Amino acid sequence: MKQIIIAIDGHSSSGKSTMAKDLAKEIGYIYIDTGAMYRAVTLYALQHGFFAGDKVDEDALRHALPDIHISFQLNKQTGRPDTYLNGTNVEREIRGMEVSDKVSSVAALPFIRRAMVAQQQEMGKAKGIVMDGRDIGTTVFPDAELKLFITASPEVRARRRLDELKAKGETATYEEVLENVKKRDYLDSTREESPLRKADDAVVLDNSDMTISEQKAWLLEVVRQRLQEVQ
Ligand code: DC
Repeated sequence: MKQIIIAIDGHSSSGKSTMAKDLAKEIGYIYIDTGAMYRAVTLYALQHGFFAGDKVDEDALRHALPDIHISFQLNKQTGRPDTYLNGTNVEREIRGMEVSDKVSSVAALPFIRRAMVAQQQEMGKAKGIVMDGRDIGTTVFPDAELKLFITASPEVRARRRLDELKAKGETATYEEVLENVKKRDYLDSTREESPLRKADDAVVLDNSDMTISEQKAWLLEVVRQRLQEVQ
């Protein structure tokens, strides 16, 4: 069967990563979480003291770029890929509030985007991938055979994110998380370089009122149809 590229874009905490991971597992494709790449760069910048408040030292980061190596390795226990930064598993650290709070400013830097997009295009060369992010269907793979755009209301997304943080033992209030979700929406969709935007030919899913299993069934049907069309 011909392999395709499935590009999944959408708002933060819309559940697109969970959808993308489950889908990849179900159809035997490789899953690539591009948000994790921007998060890993942000973690590196934090670890090296490149931040003064919300502002990142661009020159320091530009110089450090050749020393930042991001990779993914399958975690046999979870069946999902973990993110590695220079050989260290950083899956947990990149999901914390500190990185979440700073990542939009790093993801807005043109030289960072260029470097990440080039790596992502390389990873997708052989097809058979599900890649999730913000600009996959518009910039990274504008010719992807299937593009999805996933969204939900900010309130629903904040609630989901809070549950996720709590499950990891992090403390945050609903108001803080809602503010973070809205701030990231704003920064992601108004930045100059590759803003979050639905590709014209993307299929839209608003999952505010959907259960995970309803969503899964919907997705598998869309994928099945597209796979049939491209054979
Ligand atoms: O999906 P996420 O919340 O893990 O993404 C983290 C940040 O990275 C978010 O602010 C948006 C940004 N991002 C991006 O600009 N482009 C991508 N392809 C993926 C994520």
